[in-house]
Amino acid sequence: MIIWSQNQNLPDDTLSKVEKLVDRKVKDKPFELYTTYGPREHDDEETEVLALLVPFYRDKMQEVMTVMGLQDRSAYQFNLWLQGYTKRTPGHPNHAHFSGDEILSWSHVIKSVDQKPFYFESGGGVKIHPDVQSSGDINVWPAWVMHGADPLTVEGNRIVIAGNIMLQAVTDHQITAQCTKTQSNEKEWIAKSTWVS
Ligand SMILES: [Fe+2]
Repeated sequence: MIIWSQNQNLPDDTLSKVEKLVDRKVKDKPFELYTTYGPREHDDEETEVLALLVPFYRDKMQEVMTVMGLQDRSAYQFNLWLQGYTKRTPGHPNHAHFSGDEILSWSHVIKSVDQKPFYFESGGGVKIHPDVQSSGDINVWPAWVMHGADPLTVEGNRIVIAGNIMLQAVTDHQITAQCTKTQSNEKEWIAKSTWVS
């Protein structure tokens, strides 16, 4: 399922700010999966951290789209959100990110624990846990693939940043296809995650 993978950590100063934020959030609400995804305001610390993350992932999305041969012949957006799991929070039920214009989904393991909870689900309900789930692992997969994260059974905060790449238009220099989904519920999607053009 993984179509591109790389290991790279966030810059040290950004990494420590992300860890500090997630530590605080999982202490505040120890039984809830911490996520910046969803229609709610971000507090000042979240806003600062998300703003620091955007340039890093803008470069990363450009790198991925270049490998896919799409960087110079498409218009796209990406979004991102931050999540923190512990032994006391639930896992993440099986789901996919495709709602019409997402082509690629990705996750970046910011801090791993001594467990590999992330899985893809193939036909027939078979879970496949990829090996690349260590700190720094960035994995990209087709947005329609079902996936989830098992509840943690070990100590520690597992921190992940995830997102999608949404195609707006693509050309092969003969035919140009326009994707129109953002006209329908753009506001809703902006509210749900940090959205970047
Ligand atoms: Fe997901």
